[in-house]
Formats: sequence, structure tokens, C-alpha cells
Amino acid sequence: MKIKASTKFVAADAVVVFLSDKKYTPTLKKTYGEILPPEVSVEISARMKEGDFSGKKNETLQVFQKLRGVQKIILVGVGDLKTLEDQRKAAGTAIRAVKKLKLNKATFVIPKSLDAFRILSGAIAGAYEFKIGDTSERVDISSLNICTPAKISASDLEREIAVGEAVNVTRDLINYPAGHMSPEDLEKRAKDIAKTCKKMKVTVLDEKKLKKMNAGGILGVGQGAHIPPRMIIIEYKGGAKEAPEALVGKGVCFDSGGYNLKPTNHIEGMHSDMGGAGTVLGVFHYLAATQPAKNVIGVLGAVENMISGTSFKPSDIITMANGQTCQVTNTDAEGRLVLADCLHHVVTKYKPSHIIDFATLTGACVAALGNEITGIMTNTPSLLETAQKAAEENDELVWELPIIPLFREKIKGDNSDLLCWTAGVGAGSSMAGAFLENFVQDTPWLHCDIAGTAFHDKSGSETAPRGATGAMVRTICSMMK
Ligand code: BES
Ligand code: ZN
Ligand code: ZN
Repeated sequence: MKIKASTKFVAADAVVVFLSDKKYTPTLKKTYGEILPPEVSVEISARMKEGDFSGKKNETLQVFQKLRGVQKIILVGVGDLKTLEDQRKAAGTAIRAVKKLKLNKATFVIPKSLDAFRILSGAIAGAYEFKIGDTSERVDISSLNICTPAKISASDLEREIAVGEAVNVTRDLINYPAGHMSPEDLEKRAKDIAKTCKKMKVTVLDEKKLKKMNAGGILGVGQGAHIPPRMIIIEYKGGAKEAPEALVGKGVCFDSGGYNLKPTNHIEGMHSDMGGAGTVLGVFHYLAATQPAKNVIGVLGAVENMISGTSFKPSDIITMANGQTCQVTNTDAEGRLVLADCLHHVVTKYKPSHIIDFATLTGACVAALGNEITGIMTNTPSLLETAQKAAEENDELVWELPIIPLFREKIKGDNSDLLCWTAGVGAGSSMAGAFLENFVQDTPWLHCDIAGTAFHDKSGSETAPRGATGAMVRTICSMMK
């Protein structure tokens, strides 16, 4: 999709005019400046007067006004402008309306009172469709003109587009079925992204290297699979000699649960268990596109949790990369084992200024916070505050879950330093947080449990169809400026 911004009207197949409730639209001229062609203004006023359209949230109406170079004019309501998220949703609704008409060139006319960046963000997200197999029937938007009285700088526009694309890159990675997105495929995708940017490179730690590192967590989880596990390191060097920031992602390309096998209704969506890795790669797509002056290290723990004669078993005691032993009390609590080795590696090898990890880690997080709120945990309150602020600015929801001394105590084993799961404690997300905290030494660290937010298997929204959402990508990109 080619996107341009203009302070003048640009004709296109489909023209979408965003309108708020009547009371916020005193006169069209005041709201749109000189942008709206007079013929269209007359038509809108008439429609509103006759009650065909009121500007309510997500209301749409096609108006038939002949205009040179224009096939359809669509009015989209944005309601009472209470939240910025409403504007993203309205834009998602609008771009889908255009696609439904099988038109592929669009102009969005945006009044002064709306945030053109929110509209753009919603349009890019709303236009997304996962494509696999024969998709010749689908319509892609080839060009979008953002017409607004507000001046938009080229760099701000580029940045917003890069964020929108990053979200969609993450969605694609997560939506692919496990047969299309194995640890091997994930490695290929990381390399593809790195190829687009001279300041990026990928290093892969294969099984042999992981054995040398004693990375018994990721190796243990992967030992039942035919496709070998690997740790994928993606580096972006845009800064001087300062310490890098680290992003770590759980890349479990399929989580069967292992011998603690997941039942029907819980196993189907588990190709999305590499959502953390997908999130990190989306952010690297953004870094490649915008090339900020900073250094960032991404570490993806790419592995499949499968059943076979070689799989790890409940009761096994494994040795993690940091030398601690861990009893595998539940093979379905595999994510923390994978992440632990990744965290240890990034801390010891790269000495990052801080680490943010992303993982579809616990069903308990879904139970506690649902599908719209990401659970966050930290050892450094100021890092948490920075993330909370960034999330708020990007209309994403996060909520802190606690790590307390009791949980640190409860993850200790009788026959091993740690247990990957402890019966009878509850607080599953916090227990996982307490486990991970062991592996970051004193590096400031933020853990994002995206189990509920990364993948919506039941229903979609105006800005994300059913499936992967790209949750947290906008927030983290905005921390990467
Ligand atoms: N990948 C799952 C967590 C998950 C659940 C992600 C639902 C997305 C949706 C994780 O590996 C897992 O199975 N966790 C277990 C841990 C338990 C055995 C301690 C869980 O949360 O049930
Ligand atoms: Zn699991
Ligand atoms: Zn998992």
C-alpha cells in the first residue's frame, strides 16, 4: 500500500470522509478547512439533515455524488471522540468498507479534530488479511491518500507507516500454521528482515553450539522434535559504542504440551506460541525501516515442544545455561525453560542496558487479564513505568502482576535448584515471572506475558481480523525512537 499525505483533496476510486457526531461538526468548512470539495459538503449536509447519517461510532454510509475521478464516497462515523482508539477503529471500518467494494485506491478526508496518525494506524491494521493458498479473489489497497488540514512531516509519516507494517509483519509470522513456521522458517524470516538493512545481522546458535553452552532448557524442550531447536540472534547496530537494548522472544513454533499433552480446545492455536519471537521480529522490521541511532539485540528461542521417544519427560532434571538445575514438573511449562536460556545468553554475552521479553507464557495470564491486557512484570519499576506510558500513548493495555518473595521460595526444588512448575500455589503468571527473574542477574528487565493478547482465536475487531493481533508492537516501536 502506497501512502501519501496531503493538505489538499486528492481524487481516488473511493473517498472516505470521517465525521464525528453532529454536535462536534458545527460547520463542515470549519472542520475540514478547504479540503472537502463543495459538492461533497452539500451532499453530507443534506444526508445529516435528513437523518440518514449522524456520525455515530462505526456508522457508514455511501453517498452518491458524482465527482471527477471518484467512484464511491463513503461517510464513516467516529462518534463522540472519547478515545483515540475509536479513531483507529473507525479507520479500520473504513478501509474494510473500501475493500468490500473491491476498490483499491482510496482517499481519507480527515477533519482537524481527529488525529491523522491514529487514522493511518487503524487503516494499515484494518487492511490486514492473512493470506495463504489461493487468494486471487482478495482485494489489496494499492494506494491511500491521507488528506488533512494538519501538516504532516515526511519523517512522521514514514515512522507511522513503519509501525503499521511492523504490526502486520508480526501478525503474519504468528498466523502461519506450524507446518509453515517451524524453527527453520523463523530463522529464514529473521535473515530476510536482516537482509533489508546493512546495520543488521543474524547469527544462529544451532544444537551443537547450544550443547556447548549447556543450554539444557531450550535443548530439553526441543529434544522430542524432528526439527532441531536453535537460538536466533538478530543484531541492529545503529548507535555508537553504547550497550544494546535487548528484546527476547519465546519462539515455540508448536506447543503440544509435550507428555503433559494439551487437550482438544487448548492445542489448536498453539502454532501461535512463537508469538514472542514474532513480536521481536516485527520490531526489527521497524528498526530496519527507520534505522534509529541505537543498538538493539534480539534473541529468539526457536523450538517445537513435541512428543516422541526422545522427548523430555515429567520428572527429568535438566541443567540450564546458567548452571542451575531444574526439575521438569510439567512439560507444558516449557516457555520459561526456553526463555531462561535466552535471557542468560543475552545478559552474559551482550551486557544489555535492559531487557524486554515477550512470551505467550501462561494460561493463567489469560484467566487473570483476558484477551486485551498484557501482563507485565519487572525487577525495575522505572522500566515498567516507561513501558506503561508508551502503552498508554499507543492505546495498548498492560497491567502489572507481582513477583513476591513467597513465589521465589516456591519455585525451589528438593532435588534441583528450581522447579518449572509447583503444584498448589496458583498465581501461574507470577510464578513464571519469579522463575525468569533468576536468569537476568541485575539487568533491568521487563517481562510481557502476551498469552491472551497475541492471538485472538475466537473473534476479531475493527483493526485486527481473527488471529494474530500484533499486540505490543506499537508500544515497543515507540520505545525505539
Ligand atoms: N503456551 C502456553 C501458554 C498459553 C496458554 C498461551 C493459552 C496461549 C494461550 C504455555 O506453554 C503453557 O502451556 N503454560 C501452562 C503452564 C502450566 C503447565 C504451569 C499453562 O499456563 O497452562
Ligand atoms: Zn506449554
Ligand atoms: Zn507454550
